Amino acid sequence: MFRRATGVTPGGVNSPVRAWRAVGGSPRFVARGLGPHLWDVEGRRYLDFIASWGPLICGHARPAVVSAVVTAAERGLGFGAPTEAEVELAEIIVAALPGADRVRLVSSGTEAVMTALRLARAHTGRARIVKFAGCYHGHSDGMLVQAGSGGLTFGVPDSAGVPDAVAALTAIARFNDLDSVARILEGGGGDAAAIIVEPVVGNMGTVLPEPGFLQGLRELADRHGALLVFDEVITGFRLAWGGAQSRFGVIPDLTCLGKVVGGGLPLAAVAGRRDVMERLAPGGPVYQAGTLSGNPLAVAAGLATLRLLADSGAYERLEQLGSAAEDRLRRGLSALRRPVCLNRVGSMFTLFLGVESVRDLHTALAADTAAYGRFFQGMLEQGMYLPRRSSRPPSCRLRTPVRTWCRWPTGRLRAWRWRCSGLPSPGPTGAEGAPRGRAAGCGGLEPGRAKRGRAIRRERRWWAAGPEIAVGTVRPGGRARVRVHGHRGRRRVARILGG
Ligand SMILES: Cc1ncc(COP(=O)(O)O)c(C=O)c1O
Repeated sequence: MFRRATGVTPGGVNSPVRAWRAVGGSPRFVARGLGPHLWDVEGRRYLDFIASWGPLICGHARPAVVSAVVTAAERGLGFGAPTEAEVELAEIIVAALPGADRVRLVSSGTEAVMTALRLARAHTGRARIVKFAGCYHGHSDGMLVQAGSGGLTFGVPDSAGVPDAVAALTAIARFNDLDSVARILEGGGGDAAAIIVEPVVGNMGTVLPEPGFLQGLRELADRHGALLVFDEVITGFRLAWGGAQSRFGVIPDLTCLGKVVGGGLPLAAVAGRRDVMERLAPGGPVYQAGTLSGNPLAVAAGLATLRLLADSGAYERLEQLGSAAEDRLRRGLSALRRPVCLNRVGSMFTLFLGVESVRDLHTALAADTAAYGRFFQGMLEQGMYLPRRSSRPPSCRLRTPVRTWCRWPTGRLRAWRWRCSGLPSPGPTGAEGAPRGRAAGCGGLEPGRAKRGRAIRRERRWWAAGPEIAVGTVRPGGRARVRVHGHRGRRRVARILGG
């Protein structure tokens, strides 16, 4: 399928991170999703830690969201005219975000950022924008300078095709380093229109603001007459109902939203102070427009998602899921004889291998990406669909007991940690040099000790993958005997039998 795709699409994908260049291998082509799971076109099931890169906070094909979209579609796919639902969505955003007096709906995070920066330039009469190395704000020209996301791992931090004159208007500071921002603001002759930041960075992996950092940005912006723009495309309605700005208590002048606010369909928004937002056309001189802005299907998906999140307890639940994921990962990796850094806030987390702490792009780039690639492939083989960097736990079935999904890391990571450890392989006792038994990735079948029923139950839990199931029996004190359905099963059997 990937070969077929590369014949008609550059790189075989419609957005670079989907090509898996950072972690190796060919991307899985997805057939469908339900709740926290995905199925690829070959019928394999995965626990999805990407959630469409953020929007699907309530899981795949959530019935309330699907039926809202179907109902909206039955009334018409779009009108190019205002609707009541758009007003309702804007009212919810204004009520939720401390920094939002007015909202303009757009179709992508990139558009939201472009609009926010144009507004900031119009409001201040200045041109320069201060951004942070490793933060990603979409693919508009001026923001593709030391950007995170695909630009970072793709190895092309500065895109070809961006004119030098445009890039020169973007000054780069260091995340969590207020001095670097002050130096730019003081050295630039007071020409900065805005400081734009992901309040919690998701695009160089999850990187948290240190205490006082966001507050310090607020003060610097005020002192130098620049606007503070929070890019909450990832964090908006994810870290809290009021986004990172309410969680950290720092109110920006403008906020960019996307992902969750569209419930999985193309919708984003720019929101902010009334006096700044009123500069937008048609009331003001700052032009911005979009044929599909406020599209009724996208608005319906966004509204249905926000209604689910407004239910009491949704954010406690997300916190609980995030903390359970962190806990399990830490336990699973505790025997790894290498430094590991796990950054988490709410339901966003990233595992960095080979480093003690990550607080900015410099420290994020020191992480061992090759080890992470092996970890990624190993987890994928065991049905865990992880991103190459920032993860969201499959949060989404808010009512599902934490136990049902977070059981995975301890058992499964034990199977893989030796691979990540950079230690010599444990010897020729199992397939591919893995130790025999549980650590060999054979689903808990321990030929020497396993009791019949127990081993089979374990194997089913760890190995069943759609139609490709290896059904096994273990003789007490003997080796696994396995019936195989599907090629993937055969590979596993080879391991179970020790090669
Ligand atoms: C923080 C942030 N801002 C902006 C964007 C761009 O959004 P979109 O891909 O909808 O254009 C992204 C995309 O991942 C993002 O993570």
